[in-house]
Amino acid sequence: MVNANPGKASYLAQSNALLRKNLTYQKRNKCQNCCLFVFPVLILVLLVVLQHYVDQEQRKEKPRLPPVPHPPEMLPALQIPVPEGLAVRSNHLPFQDLPDPSCRNNSSCPATFLFTASNNSFAKGVVDGMFSTATSVNSSDQLDLLVLGTDSPDYLSDDNFHLYYLQNNCNKRSSISLTINRKSIELKCMEGLTLWRNSMSDINDDIFKAEEEMSEFAGAFDLLNSDSSSFNVIVWYKTVYNFLSDSASEIPVRFLNMVSNAYLQLLRGKGSQIPVEFIKDMPTHNYLNQPNFVTLMSTLLFIWIIIWLFPVMLQALVYEKQHKLRIMMKMHGLGDRAYWTISYGYFAIVSSIYMLCFVAFGSLLGLSFFTSNDYTIQFVFYFVYANLQVSVTFLAAGLFSNVKTASVVGYLLVFVTGLLGNFLFQSLLEEPSFPRIWVIILELFPGFSSFRGLYELQQYAFEGSMVGDRGMEWKDLNNPENGMREVMIIMLIEWMLTVILAYYIDRLSSSSGSCWKKLSSSSRQPKLQSNEPQVSLETESTDVVQERETVKRSILESAGSHAIICDNIRKVYPARDGNPPHTAVKGLYLALPQAGCFGMLGPNGAGKTSFISMMIGLTKPTSGTAFINGLDIRTHMDEVYSMIGVCPQHDLLWETLTGREHLMFYGRLKNLKGAALKQAVEESLKTVNLYYGGVADKQTGKYSGGMKRRLSVAISLIGDPKVVFMDEPSTGLDPASRNNLWNVVKHAKQDRAIVLTTHSMEEAESLCDRLGIFVDGSLQCIADAKELKARYGGMMVFTMTTTVDNNAEVEEMVKLISPNANKIYHLAGTQKFELPKNEVRIADIFEAVEVAKRRFPVHAWGLADTTLEEVFIKVAKAASSA
Ligand SMILES: *[C@@H]1O[C@H](CO)[C@@H](O)[C@H](O)[C@H]1NC(C)=O
Ligand SMILES: *[C@@H]1O[C@H](CO)[C@@H](O)[C@H](O)[C@H]1NC(C)=O
Repeated sequence: MVNANPGKASYLAQSNALLRKNLTYQKRNKCQNCCLFVFPVLILVLLVVLQHYVDQEQRKEKPRLPPVPHPPEMLPALQIPVPEGLAVRSNHLPFQDLPDPSCRNNSSCPATFLFTASNNSFAKGVVDGMFSTATSVNSSDQLDLLVLGTDSPDYLSDDNFHLYYLQNNCNKRSSISLTINRKSIELKCMEGLTLWRNSMSDINDDIFKAEEEMSEFAGAFDLLNSDSSSFNVIVWYKTVYNFLSDSASEIPVRFLNMVSNAYLQLLRGKGSQIPVEFIKDMPTHNYLNQPNFVTLMSTLLFIWIIIWLFPVMLQALVYEKQHKLRIMMKMHGLGDRAYWTISYGYFAIVSSIYMLCFVAFGSLLGLSFFTSNDYTIQFVFYFVYANLQVSVTFLAAGLFSNVKTASVVGYLLVFVTGLLGNFLFQSLLEEPSFPRIWVIILELFPGFSSFRGLYELQQYAFEGSMVGDRGMEWKDLNNPENGMREVMIIMLIEWMLTVILAYYIDRLSSSSGSCWKKLSSSSRQPKLQSNEPQVSLETESTDVVQERETVKRSILESAGSHAIICDNIRKVYPARDGNPPHTAVKGLYLALPQAGCFGMLGPNGAGKTSFISMMIGLTKPTSGTAFINGLDIRTHMDEVYSMIGVCPQHDLLWETLTGREHLMFYGRLKNLKGAALKQAVEESLKTVNLYYGGVADKQTGKYSGGMKRRLSVAISLIGDPKVVFMDEPSTGLDPASRNNLWNVVKHAKQDRAIVLTTHSMEEAESLCDRLGIFVDGSLQCIADAKELKARYGGMMVFTMTTTVDNNAEVEEMVKLISPNANKIYHLAGTQKFELPKNEVRIADIFEAVEVAKRRFPVHAWGLADTTLEEVFIKVAKAASSA
């Protein structure tokens, strides 16, 4: 053992110890941590794969083109059939006015237009003027003088499209070379033929029949009842489906223009015209209008990802609580402040890293949810949410005392929050008649406020990608439609409040199991029952009275002269469930010297553990107080913690940490550093026999009960505490380990005070310098083992076995030796007597037996002193019958 007491560990030393412990702990939980980070990555990858798949499926159905912000100008060309498809005379169409099929040989077939009207001569006048007569066109500026035609479905993107200009006959000039859009293009002349039909149905028939021959008319017009004062026209034209732009290129405008222009020129002369210079599409985004289901799903998946950490952290916190590790750390000097800053900071950093990975990975995968929104907004949002989540977790941890319950509730909450958010809250959000104030009230629940934030980010990302713009920017926060600002404000305020509340509740509950129990017990605590009569003096034994005098004297002198002084310390548990208030410790006086071991014996439920709980600060005394090394436990518990060691009744260990790591941690809490720490840990491991065979570096989850017990004792002794409390340290140990442990305690008690409770009289006798028998909340006696035996024993047990006939003689003999002897057992020839020690001398007994042997046969006899066990039973019986 290192002898110099290193003093109270500073805040930094405590934080350092806890941080290192946490890091080691996390290192052990590698698997769980990997899963933790793999989960969002998996979901994101899944999302991308799904998106990719869905996109591909959609592309198969409908090709998706890039947006067209500046559509090109298109030449106002008529869609005319390919030259080989132009209608000619045939068996099906035997009309003489149609061109002869021989024209196909030299590609000189005319484009045939059919027309009809109520006034033949008027209509003929109109259609005759439809085609251009210009012959001297030599620049693209003059294109509007020509009637253009093309047989390519999309002559914009088609490189070898054919452009024609239509004339009544092509004798004069058969082609014009022009430069259009920096492309040199050859315009071929094509004859335009107009043929009269008597009715609309004739036209229909002809077109239909031509189709059968795989040939086409270029178009048809019905001028109806048009005359010089009114113009009515019906146009037949062919819709050409354009597979590239995913649309029917319906440009009947040129047909209509052609015939209108002709009408105008007929009425007003050649000078009047309606030129069409070009046709232009509307600018378009070409996006798919319906948000696909991947987009719909992503908010749900993202909310699951970001609240996934909640149950994980909750489990970690409740684990420390369920296994009372928090209290154990506190008892070994870990201050609340250090615990809080490290635990909170630790979780906050882990959450922040988690969120950062989430955003970084999503961005790497190129999801617009991450890439299009302003990163600073995302960081602020995730950071605030991460902190809110950590503080809410701390608050929630107060409600649970069992890891299993906590994790079931935690995961269920995550699952349900996601579903409710996605299917209920979102529809409420999108319902304009739903009052906004209710939305805000719903957002007070952190799950919904985070959902709203993600929802807004998603909306902006989606809209942004549609208009080719960025997503949410800071200026968008002013948009009243955007819930991001209110969400951030709500989360920020909630964060502040929950941190304060969680800290307050934690301080309340850190001394008892559950904060609610504590709250209710403090509210129902009965007013002090100090006027309850003191334990009557007559029934107290002199040594208890003496102890009280010692306590009173030493308090007056100096409280620091003893390691422990208890001054009328009392513990009353408040009435609960109809039971009256229970007094567990009834005004105890005790003064223990700086070195030595004090053993507390007592039946179960006598109040030993209540007493120890008060001494180590788990519960507060109802009245009275105790001083440990002169420090009042009511006011200076934090200082007291740095000088005591505790070995609790149940081993409080982290299953995944090794024995050595436990000792390192508690050593650091006791302000040991560097080489001194190492040495102390090694020695401590050696003394409790955990050093050899690699036991020290095994995780304590794999320890046997005895090994855990020995580790607990080693923990209580590390850092050389001046006062050590051991609650039944040897339960469950095999005899060899127990002996080993006794040696450790015997060595340790030489320079420190040890308070030990035990049920083993053997242990009490061999370890303790003084013993107190504690029954029903008060000390019945306090002395060393010998004295107790002398006082309460006071009897010897004499046993003799003879034949049944001699029973009376044996009894007579015993009465002779000791008139007050008492027969306590009789079966056949065997009798047992209790002889008061002060009446008999052992020599007399031997003499009497010798005499008796001569008179009748003695099969066996024995004489025994009383044991401590008998003392214990006697005291306990006497106290409970009193
Ligand atoms: C037909 O049109 C011509 C002019 O082109 C006109 O002189 C004639 O009266 C019209 N016939 C009828 C029946 O309207
Ligand atoms: C184009 O034709 C006009 C007549 O319409 C003529 O005056 C002019 O010189 C021609 N220009 C070229 C470049 O051939």
